[in-house]
Amino acid sequence: MNHEEAKLRIAAFTAEINDHNIKYYVQSMPTISDYDFDMLLQELNKLEKEFPDLADNNSPTQRVGGQVVKEFKTVQHKYPMLSLGNTYSEEELTEFDTRVKKIIGNDFEYVCELKFDGVAIGLRYVDGKLTQAVTRGDGGKGDDVTVNVRTIKSIPLQLKGNDYPREFEIRGEIYLPRKTFEKTNAERIELGEQPFANPRNSASGTLKMQDSSVVAKRGLDSFLYFLYGEELPFKSHYESLKKAKEWGFKISPHIQKCKDLNGVFEFIKEWNKSRLTLPYDIDGVVLKVNSYQQQIELGFTAKTPRWAIAFKFKAESVSTKLLSVSYQVGRTGAITPVANLQPVLLAGTTVKRASLYNADQVAKLDLREGDTVFVEKGGEIIPKITGVDLSKREEGTHHFEYIDCCPECGTPLIRKESEAIHYCPNELGCPPQIKGRMEHFVSRKALDIDGLGFETIELLYETGLIKNIADIYDLKKEDLLSLERVGERSADNLIAGVEKSKKIPFERVLYGIGIRYVGETVAKKLAIHFNNIYTIEKATFDELLMAEEIGEKIAASIIDYFKDTRNLTIISRLKASGLQMEIHPDSIMKFVSDLLKGLTFVISGTFTKFSRDELKLIIEQNGGKNQSGVTSKTKYLIAGAEVGTSKLEKAESLKVAIITEEDFIKMI
Ligand code: IVH
Repeated sequence: MNHEEAKLRIAAFTAEINDHNIKYYVQSMPTISDYDFDMLLQELNKLEKEFPDLADNNSPTQRVGGQVVKEFKTVQHKYPMLSLGNTYSEEELTEFDTRVKKIIGNDFEYVCELKFDGVAIGLRYVDGKLTQAVTRGDGGKGDDVTVNVRTIKSIPLQLKGNDYPREFEIRGEIYLPRKTFEKTNAERIELGEQPFANPRNSASGTLKMQDSSVVAKRGLDSFLYFLYGEELPFKSHYESLKKAKEWGFKISPHIQKCKDLNGVFEFIKEWNKSRLTLPYDIDGVVLKVNSYQQQIELGFTAKTPRWAIAFKFKAESVSTKLLSVSYQVGRTGAITPVANLQPVLLAGTTVKRASLYNADQVAKLDLREGDTVFVEKGGEIIPKITGVDLSKREEGTHHFEYIDCCPECGTPLIRKESEAIHYCPNELGCPPQIKGRMEHFVSRKALDIDGLGFETIELLYETGLIKNIADIYDLKKEDLLSLERVGERSADNLIAGVEKSKKIPFERVLYGIGIRYVGETVAKKLAIHFNNIYTIEKATFDELLMAEEIGEKIAASIIDYFKDTRNLTIISRLKASGLQMEIHPDSIMKFVSDLLKGLTFVISGTFTKFSRDELKLIIEQNGGKNQSGVTSKTKYLIAGAEVGTSKLEKAESLKVAIITEEDFIKMI
């Protein structure tokens, strides 16, 4: 295929994929299977690799992220990012309506919308392309989080149609659907990290992450709700949203024009009742005067527009008696305190328990035995205790003493400096930790062993057939048949599943063995950097820090893990059983050649297509050499964004060729 043909094909694939993206992520109405979609994406990827100069920054293949940003740039908002006046009462809403009428008379309409509980974002589009995404910040200046926002699939990188203004900004909210939030939190708890308190905090934390490839996997979503521009071709807000939808933005389907306050009250009543049926959190309703002309007449106060207001829902709250506090021990030994409550009806469900998160939270609430507590349920599934009804507290009651020993194995608990969570350090002897570690090991993203579920592990552990993950590979069919409820077929299945897991790639084995703080992504980065388990085992603290994404906390945890001889025994038994203990070249890249023989490279800065470690590996696999600093031996300096100035100057003075990531890709 020649260059011209490739250009046309890339444009056609891009348009087709963008269209499917909108159907899937914006309209929730896909017209092709996930498989077919992936195939299209693969085709485009292949073409872009073949013709790197045709690869566009806004191509749908760029949604996977990969760029790492150490600090976000602060940028000035072109239009200040104001907040809205808000109220919880119908009277105040009536007062707002009276003020509006005083200025623009009675002939107007409101647009009622949901108030999304996420993180505000401003997206700038020039010639139909996303050029910048900025958070609210202080309203005047915000963080430029474009690299991360690009990974959000419902945000168009290229607009549809041809009637959009040349330059405009659209504002909206980035949020995390509730289900995705729960999944993220479950993973954090598993890794021994502090869970996020709610989807909003989770979305906000995710948006500010340094590695956009992690953001890409988090499942953030968006709703856009307001346009700014010098010459917008509309007369009203409603019209602008209708058009924005045609251009490919995700606009809420729950928008209603109302002639007067009666309609507004109806809308509020309806959504206060139905909010929990939505898959995301809302915390109220926003009403806006529809006509742009009337918005101009109404103008702004110092902080808020006079043409809009937010009506916030009160979270449903009840009071009930606190019966006791119990403590759960997770896979990593993290202790979670749980309040056991006198069952009470709240927002349609009976609540018996509420999470207390950690010791700080318990202390903050100052819980005493016999207290009556307020329980609230916002959008969250798990209710939370928001306070104590002091009027019902009896004299002379005692504080709840936080436990200092593990409720399961009696080992004294530890609490690391700067962490809110207590841990049971008896990793290899505390039953829920042992069982939890085994469940993690066999889970889908790790060794994915069919037929070995939670109950079977429980059974095998209780009967003493397995005591650790290495024992799984010594299981015999007779052992399994001796168990209650395990028949011929399921025993065969399980044995086959165990056998199959020996082919699972190294990075998943590394994730599966359950080193604290080593999640899926970190395991992958470690595997790419160190290639096999033995180099990781022997790596010093400083060597570990050299790998991407490995900070001091993770490095210390890895060192701790390999210091324990019991872990070393498990690793060598797993190896003897035939598990993958080194990275398979396919896991990284398939290029192997001697194209770069005799050439020495220095890499500096951040890159879009590959990480630094991946670039290093590609150089080695193609016969080249890596150097950390520029010398007279250096042939090329591959310079990414934010390349080190001293390296750049040295390369210039030594006449070393300075090339971009794209140039390098062309070389191989
Ligand atoms: S309009 C100038 N519409 O709530 C008007 N805001 O407390 C800009 N929000 O700053 C805002 N849903 O972050 C608008 N449908 C909606 C909204 C919404 C959520 C957020 C937004 C705003 C804050 C005000």
